[in-house]
Amino acid sequence: MDLKGSREILSNVRYLQNIRPIDPEEIEEYISGSVGVDLIRSEIRDNAFQLGLVERFDGKFTPVSEDPIDPRVVEVLKIPEKYSARLEDILREKYGKEWQLGESGEIIRERIRGIKKDYYEGRGVEYDEENALAYAAYHFPGYYVAIQHILNKISEGGLLKRKLRILDVGAGIGGPALGISDYIPENALVEYNAVEPSQAADILQILMEERGANVHLNIHRETAEKFEPSGVYDIVLFANVISELENPISVVNKYSKFVSKTGAMILVAPADKNTAIELREVERAISSNMNIYVPAISLWSGQVPCSECWSFEVMPDIEIPSFQEKIDRGGQRKGEFVNIDVQVAYSILRWDSQTLFRHPGDISRCVKLSDIGTRIGKRVDIIVVKLSQDLSEGQNSLFLVGDGSEKIDNYIVIVKETPQNRVMAEAEYGRIVLIRDVLVLWNEDETSYNLIVDKETTVQQGLKGSGRDESSDTN
Ligand SMILES: C[S@@+](CC[C@H](N)C(=O)[O-])C[C@H]1O[C@@H](n2cnc3c(N)ncnc32)[C@H](O)[C@@H]1O
Repeated sequence: MDLKGSREILSNVRYLQNIRPIDPEEIEEYISGSVGVDLIRSEIRDNAFQLGLVERFDGKFTPVSEDPIDPRVVEVLKIPEKYSARLEDILREKYGKEWQLGESGEIIRERIRGIKKDYYEGRGVEYDEENALAYAAYHFPGYYVAIQHILNKISEGGLLKRKLRILDVGAGIGGPALGISDYIPENALVEYNAVEPSQAADILQILMEERGANVHLNIHRETAEKFEPSGVYDIVLFANVISELENPISVVNKYSKFVSKTGAMILVAPADKNTAIELREVERAISSNMNIYVPAISLWSGQVPCSECWSFEVMPDIEIPSFQEKIDRGGQRKGEFVNIDVQVAYSILRWDSQTLFRHPGDISRCVKLSDIGTRIGKRVDIIVVKLSQDLSEGQNSLFLVGDGSEKIDNYIVIVKETPQNRVMAEAEYGRIVLIRDVLVLWNEDETSYNLIVDKETTVQQGLKGSGRDESSDTN
């Protein structure tokens, strides 16, 4: 369409959009010459994000609501069948009808073993077509689900806008991209910018054909280092890519400047020790500027922790996708190619001072974890974030905690559960807890502090909801 035709359509749309739903058929009546409804519809679609228009099921367009997206219970037990079918189509096209059998099945299994090993040992993975397919077969379902749990934390704070400009750096084959597209409601409007230099982008393009009408996709086949972002984004996502960047702090720092004032930077990494700890290192470097929204909320301003902090969240398992079952059948060890655990390290950072949880009450008597070494053998009050699920193997419950000032790791050990301290075990990952009369011990074997919760200890959990209670910040 020429520029003049496009201008004519868009000026009519702008005029009508606040009066009534935009019907491409009505617009056709106002246009000089015969453009055709299909072309008009496609012109509106191409400009829908800028116009702030959502396409409805009846083909009309309405302004996107300014209400934030409501949180919801994320109950993705399995990835949608349409994605399994699409992925199997791609595998069939590449390897033939019986892709999971014989030589091709062996190639896929070998590639999955290779990427798992390279990743585990911190070596770069080259995402050629076969590695990208192997990655999709093994990792796509878990990351599709994990990102939905993480996004829900933003909507729980009432902070997920219905019109979202998203930048997904190292988008890969699109697990998180599809997870986000499916998480957002039909009346939300998204401009999804995927930065992906490798052949994984070809798979992303195919799988994203299944996305909803209001997710407008742009794929940038460039590296994070070369790509020049434009404008600001409501979400900048680095999912499972930090460990593949040569200089992750400088790259994440560069992109942090493009997070909007009310937007969020989401960092995600596999729960493995190396990748999870590396994520915390990047988070800590960036948090000298940005504020951690969840989980490792800094409870004492001006402090940066330097503990190891192998922290990740364990989310509910998913059902085995059909393609993983087929690949696994040909393997020697049952379950080697099945990946249904959903557990990731993540951080959400923001420019504003919002946090997902608040302090519970008066913390003026609390000791900072950076000073805990001076209280060994004593009982103290602390205010901390719960940073793990129960790590014990059948003995006393054990939880990693932090307050943003810790120099080494601190673990809560529950030796006697009572109604007054039960909330420690029950609180969700990332929740702030105020613990009174915890006994401080030094654990020589683990080079960490054990904070003993017993019958004298009481625990109160922090409130959920956006906003920091500045009055209780004691620093
Ligand atoms: C482990 S995959 C993660 C893909 C996707 N984000 C996910 O969570 O499933 C890492 C991706 O980052 C991409 N990548 C690696 N180095 C990159 C760089 N310098 N810039 C942009 N992307 C990069 C790779 O090509 C690969 O697709």
